[in-house]
Amino acid sequence: MSSVYAPGMSAITKLDLAGLYAHATAVFRQGGGTRPQVSLIELGSERAVLKDYSRSDPWFRFVIGPLITYREVRALRALRDIPGIPRLLRQVNRRAFLMEYIEGVTPREQDQARPFASPEMFERLYELVQAMHARGVAHCDLRSGGNTIIDKQGQPYVVDFVSNFVRGSAWNLAWRWAFDRFCEADIVAVARLKKRLVPDMLTPAERQNLQREQQSRLAYWARRTGQSIRNISRFFLTRR
Ligand SMILES: Nc1ncnc2c1ncn2[C@@H]1O[C@H](COP(=O)(O)OP(=O)(O)O)[C@@H](O)[C@H]1O
Ligand SMILES: [Mg+2]
Repeated sequence: MSSVYAPGMSAITKLDLAGLYAHATAVFRQGGGTRPQVSLIELGSERAVLKDYSRSDPWFRFVIGPLITYREVRALRALRDIPGIPRLLRQVNRRAFLMEYIEGVTPREQDQARPFASPEMFERLYELVQAMHARGVAHCDLRSGGNTIIDKQGQPYVVDFVSNFVRGSAWNLAWRWAFDRFCEADIVAVARLKKRLVPDMLTPAERQNLQREQQSRLAYWARRTGQSIRNISRFFLTRR
């Protein structure tokens, strides 16, 4: 199962799950319920992020966790050489994978992110999202402020491909139509992040997109569907 796309990193990619946790130095997200544990792993000068569903509720751990890990790893593989996508280092087991660590701030931490929220950074983020779409992957959860990371150089990265939607084959017109709607929702989600951080920088076109989205039931449902995998499973499959 191991597939290493990081020639610069060797020691860290050889550790098993217990070995990785023995070198965890920070937790970005505590695992449990329907949530994965997302941890920073440090070994010497090597750093990586471990996303792992083995600490979630049983249904999630055994059924949903492997399924969404598979989907997320598949998306990272499809997008692997696009600048702004963390490199997949290794799938550790069916419910855990290791990826490149991106040092930076997320729009969730508004005050820290604001100094990096320049028009150029947003242009780069639009380019990144369009490059993903050109590869046939819509993200579907870019509205969440924790899923974009901006590094010190102002390069945006996108993480968390759990809700991704792939283009599908040319003859499947309904699927491709849905894919196009998800792509549109991704683009509006970037404008939404901009509105959250630096509303004065919104261009007239972005304002129009946001307004149109607010009035559109379709976009609303595209958004809800994008968020739904985890929500549905949370509702049906887990305690609490
Ligand atoms: N490759 C990464 N580099 C640095 N931080 C990351 C990386 N992947 C995730 N994170 C951090 O961990 C948080 C949770 O990860 P995420 O994949 O979004 O999990 P969840 O599905 O629980 O939202 C992110 O909001 C981000 O702060
Ligand atoms: Mg997230």
